[in-house]
Amino acid sequence: MTMSDNPDAIPILNGRRLLLGVCGSIAAYKAADLASKLTQAGAQVDVLLTEAATRFVSPLTFQSVTGRRAWTDADLWGPEAHILHVELGRGADLLVIAPATATTLARLAHGRADNLLALTALAVRCPLLLAPAMDAGMFEHAATQENLRTLQGRGATIAGPGEGRMASGLVGRGRMLDPVELVGHIRLTLGAGGPLRGRSVVVTAGGTQEPLDPVRVLANRSSGKQGYALAQAALDRGAAVTLISGPTGLTTPQGARRIDVETASALQQATLAEAGKADVLIMAAAVADFRPATVSGDKIKRGSGGLTLKLEPTEDILRAVGEAKRKGGRPSVVVGFAAESRDLIANAGAKRIAKGVSLMVANDITAPGAGFGVDTNRVTLIGADGAPQNLPLLSKAAVAEVVLDRVVDLLSKVS
Ligand code: CTP
Repeated sequence: MTMSDNPDAIPILNGRRLLLGVCGSIAAYKAADLASKLTQAGAQVDVLLTEAATRFVSPLTFQSVTGRRAWTDADLWGPEAHILHVELGRGADLLVIAPATATTLARLAHGRADNLLALTALAVRCPLLLAPAMDAGMFEHAATQENLRTLQGRGATIAGPGEGRMASGLVGRGRMLDPVELVGHIRLTLGAGGPLRGRSVVVTAGGTQEPLDPVRVLANRSSGKQGYALAQAALDRGAAVTLISGPTGLTTPQGARRIDVETASALQQATLAEAGKADVLIMAAAVADFRPATVSGDKIKRGSGGLTLKLEPTEDILRAVGEAKRKGGRPSVVVGFAAESRDLIANAGAKRIAKGVSLMVANDITAPGAGFGVDTNRVTLIGADGAPQNLPLLSKAAVAEVVLDRVVDLLSKVS
């Protein structure tokens, strides 16, 4: 299946060959969801179950969600046995073991090859990602900790476990991470060697809130979705990402360092401090242009009659970044956004020059399916050279992919 006929495809996962090892833990049922999510994103997922895993969940479950044969120890003695582990590992991009039990961690740490999964883990040369799941006491045990350290020392990535309620009814650290979190870890591992490896990218996202009194704020309709998608696309290309975020209910993309801000002035402070150290700034935040001239310490009473607010302008953060860049040279690439309700190309083009940005992502906020709150966006990219690039109505994730490809290209030209 190609990207064009799979609307759920995620480029960093699409067409990748993943091996998913499943061990005997109650969390094995969550591995079926993980296999399903990875398959939907376009990955080719080969599942290997240990004997104990088959007691919790059937190979048929995995076959049904991946559309591919799932392998068990019974296959070790079948006709393909002599090459099975080598064949499975050939060309694999990543071996994920989720859930990884204490027994399997011990097997791997000691290089034992006494089941199909352990055998394959020795045969493959791709990165290894382990998602432990076990009782908290077992996880904390010195033997398990030592095995994890050994595996980490050899380059394995350990994802989790998280805190929470375990099958025993006890609460502690031993829960396998949720499939969505594991997909984030998988993206991070697969993207590590990408074109933005060694680059730092700062993304601002969401809207700002300007306090009026202890309970009220002046805000805007920004959901933060486009900015978060841009942060994820930068992570998928191997960048170190700092996400400066206004208030949103969104989950931080795995691997991003997040700084929370509320007001335009806090956003400015954080952005100037971070952008001065970064290679790229993507200014997707919807910054308030005005704030109340005075903030009431007490709740403003309804009183009788109306209320007139006096507003003062906030700082133009992009302009300030542009000035700092002229002095210090950083960040090398600045991407701005332009929300326009008329004369999109002319207004956004003028804004690009006035704010000194490398690439402007312009959107017509009156266009259907574009802008605030929705999952789609229709934008035009305006750079210093070439004609504006009109993109069709796309998911915000797809817009982020195109923007980050342009960033990679711009970076290659400046350094
Ligand atoms: N921006 C900024 N600081 C502000 C306001 C906006 O850095 N105080 C940034 C936004 O994050 C965006 C770009 O400037 O990347 C353009 O924002 P937009 O709201 O389209 O433009 P404004 O500068 O606010 O101009 P206008 O409202 O007059 O269109």
